[in-house]
Amino acid sequence: MIQRSAARFTLDPAFGIGEVNPRLYGSFVEHLGRCVYDGLYEPGHPEADEAGLRRDVLALVRELGVTTVRYPGGNFVSGYRWEDGVGPLEQRPVRLDLAWHSLETNRFGLGEFMDFCRKTDVEPMMAVNLGTRGVEDAVRLVEYANHPGGTELSDLRIAHGAEEPYGIRMWCLGNEMDGPWQIGHKKPGEYARLARETANAMKMVDGDLQLVACGSSGFGMPTFGAWEAAVLGECYEQVEYVSLHSYYGLAVDDTDLDSFLASAEDVERYIEGVVDTCDHIGARLKSTKKIMLSYDEWNVWHVERSPTTPPPEDGFPYAPRLLENNYSLADAVLTGSLLIGMLRHADRVTAASLAQLVNVIAPIMTEPGGPAWRQTIFYPFAQASAFGRGRVLRVEADSPRHTTERFGEVDLLHATAVTDDATGAVTVFAVNRDRTGALPLDVVLRGFGELAVAEHLVLDGDDPDARNTLDRPDRVTPRTATGATVSGDVLRAVLTPLSWNVIRLRRPGNG
Ligand code: AHR
Repeated sequence: MIQRSAARFTLDPAFGIGEVNPRLYGSFVEHLGRCVYDGLYEPGHPEADEAGLRRDVLALVRELGVTTVRYPGGNFVSGYRWEDGVGPLEQRPVRLDLAWHSLETNRFGLGEFMDFCRKTDVEPMMAVNLGTRGVEDAVRLVEYANHPGGTELSDLRIAHGAEEPYGIRMWCLGNEMDGPWQIGHKKPGEYARLARETANAMKMVDGDLQLVACGSSGFGMPTFGAWEAAVLGECYEQVEYVSLHSYYGLAVDDTDLDSFLASAEDVERYIEGVVDTCDHIGARLKSTKKIMLSYDEWNVWHVERSPTTPPPEDGFPYAPRLLENNYSLADAVLTGSLLIGMLRHADRVTAASLAQLVNVIAPIMTEPGGPAWRQTIFYPFAQASAFGRGRVLRVEADSPRHTTERFGEVDLLHATAVTDDATGAVTVFAVNRDRTGALPLDVVLRGFGELAVAEHLVLDGDDPDARNTLDRPDRVTPRTATGATVSGDVLRAVLTPLSWNVIRLRRPGNG
């Protein structure tokens, strides 16, 4: 194994970036493939509760530490009529879902989603359809969901069994409206005006809403930057967030794993580009307000490895197996690195959604009538959500580097750190991107007082391609490493090749 020189950085509680907003650990449920149907919702399954929600899936969602869930899409929302999914089940229409060429039974809708949120202690994040619909339907949905009662739509919700308003705070103004694949795709100016007028009207119904304007559907979009500027130029004062979406994957014949593992470079540049654009518009408008970033679709997605639409001979099937990526150890290490990239910008990225939650590019997999299990990417997310709370500290690493084809020279170490000011605990999240060598890590701990290693959790292994499957659901799981020490004011640890690491430090005597 190659012997690397140490990567180093200094942590100091005086140099903070920002508080982690719990909304950073959100996820996403779309009516797509088997995310909802034969995923989290499967009446008749031995684990199904009275509402058809799988108890085993609910338990895994809680274990994952998901804080918010965006719903119902995604591309799906741009052709969706929310009214189809409320009221008595037997009266709900069956429709064609054009986005994913599937059959939509509407057995699962807003009420079922809110039940799911209540049972998993998750904050709902709704999207309105700005593809085929507009201001009026968005307003009607907010009235149905959030108005206490005494109007046609709020009384309808009550008649449907929800006496109390849902009180949904976070709303997305459409989905990926810059994308030519989107039903009702818009030019920047068209979307900007529609988003502004929809936002104004939605806030007339409920002034406490927090709204997310669609940013670009990817950093690589040709209109990136110009789109955000046009949208925010119209609705800067109407919205609280702008969205970012990105997925990273390898084409079937692409073997450039080093570039893939460095994809968080792209995440950080993307975030910085959006922050710059927001602040440029804010400065032009002389606004004191700062727009926050909602990274509401992100994940590893190897697009070529599973179908994105059903085969033509299948017509419009119910719950087809779409986007069912089976994740490897390397995918999990990158997932951790993508989270690190967002945490390093926690002052502006205050909401995010791992896309998606169940079966569809997901940390949780299920078999109809069978078990549910954790994919490899489950673990870094769950650990970041469990331990990545508090204040993010600045990390300026001095790390050995290597050259990648896509991103040029990159650090082998990708790291961030979070401190809990109440207990003095510090958690370091670190990825060793090097597939061939262990990376020694030295962290100078300045101004914390005495700290000791509580735990060093590692996700690593001999085979970057190792996966969890139905037959072998626990092939890749985290382990506890030994050897990390704090001596004087220096934390020393060794990061094994291609590994995700969580090093938890605590004050002696503090649990
Ligand atoms: O998450 C899968 C799809 O990716 C979403 O529906 C869409 O918004 C994005 O392009």
